[in-house]
Amino acid sequence: MRLRPLGSTGLTVSPVGLGLAALGRPAYIDLGRDADLGADRGVEALERRCHQVLDAAFGAGVRYLDAARSYGRAEAFLASWLQARGLDPAEVTVGSKWGYTYVGDWRMDADVHEVKDHSLAALTRQLAESRALLGPHLDLYQVHSATLDSGILEDRSVLDELTRLRDSGVVVGLSSSGPGQADTIRRALELTEAGKAPFASVQATWNLLEPSAGPALAEAGAAGWGVIVKEAVANGRLTPHGQAADALARVAARHAVGVDAVALAAVLANPWVDVVLSGAVTPAQVEDNLAAVQVELDGGELEELATLAEPPERYWQVRSALAWS
Ligand SMILES: NC(=O)c1ccc[n+]([C@@H]2O[C@H](COP(=O)([O-])OP(=O)(O)OC[C@H]3O[C@@H](n4cnc5c(N)ncnc54)[C@H](OP(=O)(O)O)[C@@H]3O)[C@@H](O)[C@H]2O)c1
Repeated sequence: MRLRPLGSTGLTVSPVGLGLAALGRPAYIDLGRDADLGADRGVEALERRCHQVLDAAFGAGVRYLDAARSYGRAEAFLASWLQARGLDPAEVTVGSKWGYTYVGDWRMDADVHEVKDHSLAALTRQLAESRALLGPHLDLYQVHSATLDSGILEDRSVLDELTRLRDSGVVVGLSSSGPGQADTIRRALELTEAGKAPFASVQATWNLLEPSAGPALAEAGAAGWGVIVKEAVANGRLTPHGQAADALARVAARHAVGVDAVALAAVLANPWVDVVLSGAVTPAQVEDNLAAVQVELDGGELEELATLAEPPERYWQVRSALAWS
């Protein structure tokens, strides 16, 4: 895979990155976990699996890795892998996030798996934790799921601390979720342009079912921000575990790849995207997802695929009803 810049951040990424949300903790919301992860969700088994998937991705050229404080032990698994493989910080770009705390106690049946807290105290604590694990590998630190109503974008003390972090050499970004993604991204752009916030990259959900953040992401790209797309296969809905729509299956058959590769290729067809995340949990899924890089969708196919979009409110309702398994 040919590497490319992450906007004007000075960081370098591969067009497909690997996200560790589904690999750092026993339970998560993606659809086919019973089939793909099996019953052994112990710490050692998941660390071994995480390292296998990282090996497969890195071996295939993936050079952006995405974690978060709330992904269970994802940062620790990533740190042990980086150390075991002897990778230098210059060899791979690492992003993580603060703003949610993992409280699932490594239980599948936890009542609550993660708790949101965008306060200065949470930032200070979680930045120290991320730095202790990732040290000089930490290239990008993102607010986890910023929303207008979380107050983060108006909190001077948090924005000042993030500015200090930026000035220390770490790129500062935000991720967004929910039907209001576009408004959040535009507010963050406005604040940064006015010199009141230090954001230089955004990570957002864009997929064939929920493309509504596209225009705001194009504006972010035009402003020089790095643009990272997450949930490209809609948490498994656009994979063999979901019920792929006919149009998607048709296009996949035409290119002789899986539906997941077409879903990722559709993300990469947007001129504003720098890196799309694979959420693969097996080396085979890494290979399936990476087939996207070879898929060139033509205008007619992109039009056909655009018919899959759902109203954003409905998409996010379905997503928030996904069970942790
Ligand atoms: N707010 C945020 O900042 C935020 C939120 C969500 C995600 N993210 C980032 O985005 C990354 C990806 O997101 P995600 O995992 O939530 O969603 P996703 O990428 O849409 O879904 C990934 C899931 O799809 C399934 N899958 C993928 N390829 C497959 C294949 N070939 N065959 C069968 N199943 C396949 C796997 O789940 P099963 O095997 O279980 O089916 C995999 O875990 C995360 O790791 C994280 O880094 C960030």
